[in-house]
Amino acid sequence: MKHILIVHGPNLNLLGEREPEVYGSMTLADINAELETFAQQHHLTLKNFQSNHEGGLIDFIHEQRHWADGMVINPGAYTHYSYALRDAIAGVNFSTVEVHLSDISQREDFRKVSVIEPVCVAQVSGLGWKSYIAGLEKLLDLKKA
Ligand code: DQA
Repeated sequence: MKHILIVHGPNLNLLGEREPEVYGSMTLADINAELETFAQQHHLTLKNFQSNHEGGLIDFIHEQRHWADGMVINPGAYTHYSYALRDAIAGVNFSTVEVHLSDISQREDFRKVSVIEPVCVAQVSGLGWKSYIAGLEKLLDLKKA
């Protein structure tokens, strides 16, 4: 597990100003910087990507499928209904962890459903930006298993 994709879905480019009481005050750049520090400590190489478009996320996953050993993805609202994104994750040959800043199990009913979770090795939700760190740790744990 060396090459890891960090993928952020729609509206996550607005982190820091978007509903900070739900998603926290860190920007996406702040989160990516924390993940880079973690990656260096663990000898990982990250590629970060954010898109507000379903097809953009899918294209990126396809393009990186021979480079990546694993992926941490926050699919944003696509979590709850994108079968196309689910199929993209199912169709590539690396392990994926789904992460969320907020605890989706404690929010509106539509957020309690993830169509992505069944094609992931784990889901981490509700730890704020540290959900991404926990996601990376889950990928590292796979190697040890
Ligand atoms: C989110 C939760 C989703 O329901 C929401 O649409 C998001 C962010 C989270 O990180 O808590 O955009 O994925």
